[in-house]
Amino acid sequence: MERCTVGFVGAGGVAVRHARQLDQLENVQIVAVTDPVAATAQSFAEMTGAAAVSDLDALLDASPDAVYVCVPPHVHGPIEERVLGAGTALFVEKPLAADLPTAERIADAARRAGVVTSVGHHWRYSPAVDLARELLDGRPVRLVVGSWLDRVPPVPWWSKRELSGGQVVEQAVHVLDLARMLCGDVVEVDAYANSTPPGTSGADVDGATVAILRFRSGAVGTVSASCCLEWKHRAGLELHADGLSVAIHEDRVIATTAQGPVEHGLQPDDAKLAADRAFIDAVVGNGAARAGIRVDYDEALRTHQLACAIAESAAHNRPVRLDE
Ligand SMILES: NC(=O)c1ccc[n+]([C@@H]2O[C@H](COP(=O)([O-])OP(=O)(O)OC[C@H]3O[C@@H](n4cnc5c(N)ncnc54)[C@H](O)[C@@H]3O)[C@@H](O)[C@H]2O)c1
Repeated sequence: MERCTVGFVGAGGVAVRHARQLDQLENVQIVAVTDPVAATAQSFAEMTGAAAVSDLDALLDASPDAVYVCVPPHVHGPIEERVLGAGTALFVEKPLAADLPTAERIADAARRAGVVTSVGHHWRYSPAVDLARELLDGRPVRLVVGSWLDRVPPVPWWSKRELSGGQVVEQAVHVLDLARMLCGDVVEVDAYANSTPPGTSGADVDGATVAILRFRSGAVGTVSASCCLEWKHRAGLELHADGLSVAIHEDRVIATTAQGPVEHGLQPDDAKLAADRAFIDAVVGNGAARAGIRVDYDEALRTHQLACAIAESAAHNRPVRLDE
């Protein structure tokens, strides 16, 4: 199998996770990493055998086949534009940015570059997706109930709205993306926030958000998010159709009918590895392999637009339409 060389921009928590996954793919070599925190870059370099380089220019000088961008939300923009300008395949961690205009600008650049792109919405690669479709067996979904009820993640940028975009944009976006994949586009949202931030020092993100969603299909839904807990309480999506409820979590799917619930176990890491495998296969493969990518930059942009519409609706106390 053809070898794929990879560079990493950002060497924090999620970069380390991708590196461990890429290590399980026999044809990948991580050749370079850059991170403004030298110790972080160095530790990643020692773990992977990559060269720790001073900046993005030096990383692109190594001519990697693909670049993983694993930086905090507010840092996106110039990095992707440089990578795409070099004609290099791009894997970007979600969210695409802390705001919408930055992501729209990168999407334009990605379309012009025509390179392989992929976004870290790994829930799309979960066996839960095929299982949910099989269980629904064509029954239309009438009600969608998404939730992300959690603690504040232990990274310094997360609880600042300007840096992360807030919980819906940064975190509940996984659930929104899955809802779009299984139920289609949302055309209108109406959201409310509990604007008291979580207890973390200096935090200014909302403590809780609830949004009502109207899907183009006619389905209706809600998404609830809160970061006021001290544990991960629930992250998942429930789909309700005639005589059937399907609850999707990272580690299981529960199908409930009048006969009672049936639980199907999942390995959460399978979806994460599958997302990396699909991207690498598309980079080394031909046009057909690109079809294995379930969420490229353009597709993720539509999910990001939905998350930003919810944030806007909550901030301005008014419904926001997405179909105009
Ligand atoms: N898909 C998932 O399940 C998942 C899981 C965790 C995080 N993420 C996403 O990944 C992104 C990063 O999260 P994290 O947990 O790794 O954060 P982190 O804070 O642990 O790591 C981010 C790294 O980026 C570096 N960085 C900052 N500016 C940079 C720049 N200009 N160039 C290069 N590096 C720069 C920081 O020094 C830091 O080491 C976030 O957007 C987060 O939402 C996704």
